[in-house]
Amino acid sequence: MSRHILVSVAWPYASGSRHLGHLAGAYLPADIFARYHRLAGNRVLMVSGSDVHGTPITVRADEEGVTPQEIVDRYHAEFVAGWDDLAVQWELFTSTGTPNHHEVTRDIFSRLHKNGYIDRRTSEQFYDPEAGRFLPDRYVEGTCPHCAYREARGDQCDGCGRTLDPVDLIDARSKLSGATPVIRETDHFYLRLSDFSERLADWLHTRKGWRKHVMNFSLGWIEEGLQDRAITRDIDWGIDIPVEGLGEGKKIYVWFDAVIGYLSASKEWSRIRGTPDAWKDWWKNPEAEHYYFIGKDNIPFHTIIWPAMLLGYGGLELPTNVPANQYVTFKGGKASASRGIGLTIGEALDDYEPDSLRYALAANLPENSDTEISGKEIDRRIDEELVATWGNLVNRVLSMTVSVFDGRIPEAGETGPEDRKARAAARQALDEAAARIERVELRAGLRTAMEAAGRLNAYLNATEPWKTAKTDRARTAAVLKTALDAINHLKTALAPYLPITSERLHSMLGLPGTLADHGWAAVDIPPGTTLGAVSTLYRKVETAGRGRPPK
Ligand code: MF3
Ligand code: ZN
Repeated sequence: MSRHILVSVAWPYASGSRHLGHLAGAYLPADIFARYHRLAGNRVLMVSGSDVHGTPITVRADEEGVTPQEIVDRYHAEFVAGWDDLAVQWELFTSTGTPNHHEVTRDIFSRLHKNGYIDRRTSEQFYDPEAGRFLPDRYVEGTCPHCAYREARGDQCDGCGRTLDPVDLIDARSKLSGATPVIRETDHFYLRLSDFSERLADWLHTRKGWRKHVMNFSLGWIEEGLQDRAITRDIDWGIDIPVEGLGEGKKIYVWFDAVIGYLSASKEWSRIRGTPDAWKDWWKNPEAEHYYFIGKDNIPFHTIIWPAMLLGYGGLELPTNVPANQYVTFKGGKASASRGIGLTIGEALDDYEPDSLRYALAANLPENSDTEISGKEIDRRIDEELVATWGNLVNRVLSMTVSVFDGRIPEAGETGPEDRKARAAARQALDEAAARIERVELRAGLRTAMEAAGRLNAYLNATEPWKTAKTDRARTAAVLKTALDAINHLKTALAPYLPITSERLHSMLGLPGTLADHGWAAVDIPPGTTLGAVSTLYRKVETAGRGRPPK
């Protein structure tokens, strides 16, 4: 009965450090969701990789006077190290620079061409007369024609989030020379997106449980009238076009190849495992579930363009849900890698322990509206919630078990209604957290577990086992055993959010194996079990301090 869950996560441009906005927008929610499903016994395939083509990379390389490959190698290594530090767990984190990805991309391009969904057209593009080059995408900046934001890039406006064509920009200027670009004709291949309007609208109407903002945006895009889109560029960094005839100096457009990464990475993972057909269990299986974790600026690529490519190719599964997040804002502005707004992941890991950072971000995920995350808010979430509620609860129950029962889990003996209520509440929290995570309401899932931790604290305050310890050993055993089992259930509910400390807690509780062996189940701890070495799970930011001494 185990389900096949594909967890597809936006491919980060290997053009700069990623920041907390990316982490909260895509990687952390994906990891929480995937970890839950693995614990629940489902077959999870979580894939992504570095997005290594296109103008984000070449603009950066031009600025530094190095090759695009140098930029890509530097940031790919940084991403991989970051996932490790943060315990973001992939089946595969690869790159769009692999021979496998190039091959799969060319196959999709060729098939769409053969099926009549790609045709060749003469288009007008910006050209820099001083630099003597065409100016695709981010080589042009100017004022957004929709919202008048002045720093809009040729491919997309950070002001209103719309995707753009460079020639639509007002007061366009070349990033290469600052010159005013001129228009020149050049031939390109186009994806006939307009052919898919009806099929995409019909398909979207069959989707259930989507976030309102995602569905509204997607249907709105179709209602505005889908435009056929150029899927090649005048650039020399990218994937070769498999269909002859365009001439030199052109490659496949980065967004056309990047979304294909979900499929190519699934195939690569299958090959690495020595089961080359395994990817079909997700991509050719109508029972499989496909979830795409992305920021809202990527919505049209995942709810319109990629589904159109899949429909045009045929025989592959479309997204089940695209739970895109809104933006994380810092002092009112959208976090942005290219603009250097907000802490980078590396900087944040210098300031916070990984699970503490995961907690603070998970409690503030921008699921339905833009969400401000200040350093102060991160500190408050850690000190006043994670440490004060959960850390303290674990600490006092385990310490008492050590001091009163020599670190051995007691028999519960005779229990009363309040004990049974406390026990049932923790079990129920585990079920409720699961239901919320299934619906990709991850903030709510975390709240469920934390509220249960709060109620368990209240139970201890009411039963006062530290007082009964001297007078009534049996009563103390009943309360501590209840609390220990409840903590064990909440450990599981929190494990997707706090994987590192939940694993430590698992050993501290004296349980055999790992969280993965235990799974998503409310299991009571056998009496007589000896606790492992008990230590503090979380430190207050207030005492641990933020920021390590400069290196
Ligand atoms: N590289 C893009 C960005 O950072 C995201 C690409 S998602 C993909 O915005 F799946 F299409 F690759
Ligand atoms: Zn705009």
